[in-house]
Amino acid sequence: MTENTSVEAVELDLLVEAVSRCAGINLSDIPNLSLRLRVEQIASSMGAHTISSLQDKILHDRRLMEQFISQATALPAMLFADSHFYRDVREKIAPLFATRPFVRIWHAGCATGEEAYSMAILLKEEGVFDKCRIYATDIGDTMLHSARAGIFAESYLKEQEPRYLASGGKGSVYDYFIQASGHVVFDQNLRRNIVFAHHNLSRDACFNHFDLIVCRNVLQYFTAPMQERVLRLFDKSLVEDGILALGKHESIEFQPRSSKYNHVDGMEGFYRKNEEAA
Ligand SMILES: C[S@@+](CC[C@H](N)C(=O)[O-])C[C@H]1O[C@@H](n2cnc3c(N)ncnc32)[C@H](O)[C@@H]1O
Repeated sequence: MTENTSVEAVELDLLVEAVSRCAGINLSDIPNLSLRLRVEQIASSMGAHTISSLQDKILHDRRLMEQFISQATALPAMLFADSHFYRDVREKIAPLFATRPFVRIWHAGCATGEEAYSMAILLKEEGVFDKCRIYATDIGDTMLHSARAGIFAESYLKEQEPRYLASGGKGSVYDYFIQASGHVVFDQNLRRNIVFAHHNLSRDACFNHFDLIVCRNVLQYFTAPMQERVLRLFDKSLVEDGILALGKHESIEFQPRSSKYNHVDGMEGFYRKNEEAA
């Protein structure tokens, strides 16, 4: 066998193909070396000695497939990641929320919860937190477990402070965490309006109606048919005039429902639903 067709390279190609066909997840844009390292790590954590045996396990166990996807697509956990996104929500969306009696927000693909925590902090600072409920969902149970606990190393907060300030933060990120021995815990007063739950965008149904759906850095891993399915789900789940916020590499252009949405002026990745345009 030549170097490019080592057994592991063939196994990795087959795994990528299997995950795309069976779960609608496209891993082929992840650079080969980092995908291979991740896959080998996941295989070892699932007790699989080869990539083929990992494939066998995940294809026959839905929960293991979900665990695999959540670990294969994980990003470093950061508060206020892409601080301009939170600045936009703070300056342009929170004032809209102030005019509504009750607000529901859905973070779809919330990973370990940092997006939901960041949102809670900014809503609190903008004076609308008490009327908001945040639903944060993911397929990764281990991630959801960490999200619910909200425990971070003390050193972690120091790294988050510059992004919090760049997002328009009005105090310090330390204000929202309680010191415990050797670590910090997210403030329970903010945690109380956040529900973390398991929800699989590829198979589960609409479960509420939302003023804002945030789904960042998730659709980019989905195959075209899966993206279409998920955007249909979001469409059903958004109230009229509701806003969908995607990541910087994601768009609803070319999707069948895109004519129902207007790009929100000056806000990259934000789309407003407009029933009348349908
Ligand atoms: C790259 S992370 C993005 C996390 C977060 N939104 C952010 O931007 O930091 C992708 C997340 O999508 C989740 N995910 C992947 N497929 C999913 C699906 N079918 N349903 C729900 N969540 C999914 C993964 O578990 C992972 O936590």
